[in-house]
Order: sequence, then C-alpha cells, then structure tokens
Amino acid sequence: MIFTVAIDGPAAAGKGTISRAVAERFGFAHLDTGALYRAVGAKGGDPVAAARNLVPADLARDDLRTLEAGQAASRVAVIPEVRAALLEFQRRFARREGGAVLDGRDIATVICPDAEVKLYVTASAEIRAHRRWLEVGGDPAQVLAEVRERDARDMGRADAPLRAAEDAVVIDTSDLSVDAAVALATAAVARRLGDRPG
Ligand code: DC
Repeated sequence: MIFTVAIDGPAAAGKGTISRAVAERFGFAHLDTGALYRAVGAKGGDPVAAARNLVPADLARDDLRTLEAGQAASRVAVIPEVRAALLEFQRRFARREGGAVLDGRDIATVICPDAEVKLYVTASAEIRAHRRWLEVGGDPAQVLAEVRERDARDMGRADAPLRAAEDAVVIDTSDLSVDAAVALATAAVARRLGDRPG
C-alpha cells in the first residue's frame, strides 16, 4: 500500500511528536525531514556539496537538536540547490511501500502534493518558544526571538516557503494536550484509510 501522511508546520509546534505517534499507530515509516537540513547545516563547508553527499552517519550526529543547528538548518534551507539535492530522496521515501509519514515545511506543498493526508500543525510563537525553552533552557526571551527569526525565514523564503496547503487539516496545538493533538491527527488518517476502496 502506498499512503503518505504529510505533516508541515513551524518549529516546535508538535510535528515530531504527532508524526512519531501516527507512524507507530499505523505501522508507517517516519522521516523527520528537518534532520536532513540540520545535518547539511551542521556539516559546514559548502552546503550544496554537503546536501549532495549526505550519508546516514550525518543524520546520526548528537548535536542536531540544538538551537544553533536549527538556525543553521533554516539558513541552508533557503538555497534552492540544497532543496533540489534533497528532493528525490524525500519523494521516494514518501511513496515507499507500506505507508510513510514525513514532517517538515514543504511536504504537502512541494514534496508530495498528492499525499493522502495533509496536516498543518501550528501553535502561537509564545507557546512554541516556551516548549522549546523547556527542552533547551537558556534565556526565554532569546528562545522566543529565535523562534520568530526562524518563522520569518522559513515563511519568507522564495523557494518552498512554509505555508499550509489549501487542502490541509489545520491542528492548532496551542491549547491542546499531546494526547488530544495526536487523537485529531490519528482520526484524520483513519478517516482517509477508511475511504480507500478495497
Ligand atoms: O523541523 P526542524 O526544526 O528540524 O527544521 C529545521 C529547519 O530546516 C527549518 O527551520 C527549515 C528547514 N526545513 C525546511 O526548509 N524544509 C523541511 N521540509 C524541513 C525543514
């Protein structure tokens, strides 16, 4: 069965948690596409060469989840040649046999416009910054400033800017528990799976 769940949204909205839960619930494979951009940013040197030569070990680094790695990822992600180098791998993953969940910024709009389910997971910048601060600590005002800076760059870039696909189901997690957000996402997938002939 080919079945793609595309999950987009801004930083720290809960995409990762929801994606992992949906993948586990339905037995689908999961790709955190942000990790690809984080790995490119963390490699240093020429980002286009880094994207073209990415290997699994680059994704296994233990410094990919830091604020700095997020900012570096967001900066290399504006480069069209970097995005182009990562596109085919993501498309192949999306259409692999057995079902796939991909989370990122442009999954429903560019990578997989034919995804069976499209979710846009969002929350207010303040709430996202607070969640990120609980993970990474530091100065709360600086964490909020970084979230806003990353939003502006990810939404404002010319190539594949972050936006909700027209037919995406929007899940605002600002006032939702993790369980409630996962339940909404799971229900959207179950509905679509139920629609499938045979
Ligand atoms: O989801 P994340 O925080 O790990 O993503 C890090 C950065 O990578 C994000 O700020 C922008 C970029 N990114 C992207 O441009 N397209 C994607 N599909 C995923 C991430």
